[in-house]
Amino acid sequence: MDRIRIRGGAPLNGLIPISGAKNAALPLMIASLLTEETLELGNVPRLADISSLLRIMSNFGVDHSIAGRRPGQTTETGQTIRLTAKNVIDTTAPYELVSTMRASFWVIAPLVARFGHARVSMPGGCAIGTRPVDLLIMALAKLGAAIEIEAGYVVATAPKGLRGAEIDFPKVTVGGTHVALMAATLAEGTTVIRNAAREPEVVDLAQCLVKMGARIQGAGTSEIVVEGVSRLHGTSHDVMPDRIETGTYAMAVAMTGGDLVLDNTKPEYLQAALDVLGQAGAEVTSTIGGIRIRRNGNGIQPVDITTDPFPGFPTDLQAQFMALMTRASGTSRIRETIFENRFMHVQELARLGARIRLDGDSAYVEGVPTLKGAPVMATDLRASVSLVIAGLVAEGETTINRVYHLDRGFEALEAKLARCGAQIERVRG
Ligand code: EPU
Repeated sequence: MDRIRIRGGAPLNGLIPISGAKNAALPLMIASLLTEETLELGNVPRLADISSLLRIMSNFGVDHSIAGRRPGQTTETGQTIRLTAKNVIDTTAPYELVSTMRASFWVIAPLVARFGHARVSMPGGCAIGTRPVDLLIMALAKLGAAIEIEAGYVVATAPKGLRGAEIDFPKVTVGGTHVALMAATLAEGTTVIRNAAREPEVVDLAQCLVKMGARIQGAGTSEIVVEGVSRLHGTSHDVMPDRIETGTYAMAVAMTGGDLVLDNTKPEYLQAALDVLGQAGAEVTSTIGGIRIRRNGNGIQPVDITTDPFPGFPTDLQAQFMALMTRASGTSRIRETIFENRFMHVQELARLGARIRLDGDSAYVEGVPTLKGAPVMATDLRASVSLVIAGLVAEGETTINRVYHLDRGFEALEAKLARCGAQIERVRG
């Protein structure tokens, strides 16, 4: 298995191109199941999760092609993928495939909406928490799907099609909102989704669905209204920039010091995190195509945060921020309110010399003057990248094992960081 080896101490200077967002690309790819015509997606990141979803879609009978290189494209600029769900021969998503990536459960929505039948394995828990799908099932049931649980599978049927309904989510759920939105586009009549997730990825999906002929209003607010249509058509759409990748490199330069431009991204996608970085002592400014982050000599201030649905501080940046706080000049409190078990990085950061105390949903991080390199590993991708951030300042050598977690969500991570001065390399294993 590959490892990442880092020698800490070098500041980051230069420009990092931000990739297309994994968490936008996945639902967009799934949306191709809503039409028999071709959906062309640009700026799709080259990531293991994208390949996994392509395998699952191929299993249904979806044809896909990846466009060849275009002028200016490198292996770090996204790819263009065309998906055509014309001849869907199977509406079952088996456990072996769904268990590798939870988001693939979302295929249940377009399958039942367009074909009246879907049989999708329950995804099970994962390293960051139990992550149930009850609210996704509730949304489909409201839209008129008959739901049965059979031997670990959710079987959703709607032989006469789905019907518009009022869906009130008791809790904000990104996946639940994606599922309700996709299913409602082909339901008969009007659907109102209340307490909808406001994440930019929901807006990106809605914009693509509108280009496909869907009638959607309110995406990006907590109430989305969908007027169902009888069919959708193909279109072209570019995946939005990855706000979590953006925030990760912003935290990295706040940690190491230096001057970094994050290109092809938008500050408004991660304003809460940028505000916190400002309080921690980084200087954040907008550029024409993105964001510039600088930190010079003045140290890192402790800042308390609480994770929240968008526009709050994202849970997907919590681990990276904790890494930064391990070097702050004081104690910070980091509260995780989205996933109950998302502190797996704490023990590994401790191996590098961090002082962190866990108490319920909170981690108290007492900043230390130095971290020391060590072998570490992590159990999910955001936790893994927090160890990269810590490794970038740790004295000596840090080796991060189980790199496949990073490959699920960060395109060309070591190449992007190395070009900006980091001493980081992949060791093939
Ligand atoms: N929840 C339920 N029941 C449900 C669905 C969710 O109780 O039926 C709970 C979850 O257990 C959690 C909360 O609601 O406590 C929010 O979960 P949500 O549904 O919003 O998460 P998700 O859609 O499964 C997406 C991202 C995650 C990100 C979360 C929160 C993708 C592919 N995944 O997950 O990203 O952390 O939203 O923003 O978009 C990652 O990229 O590393 C990652 C985990």
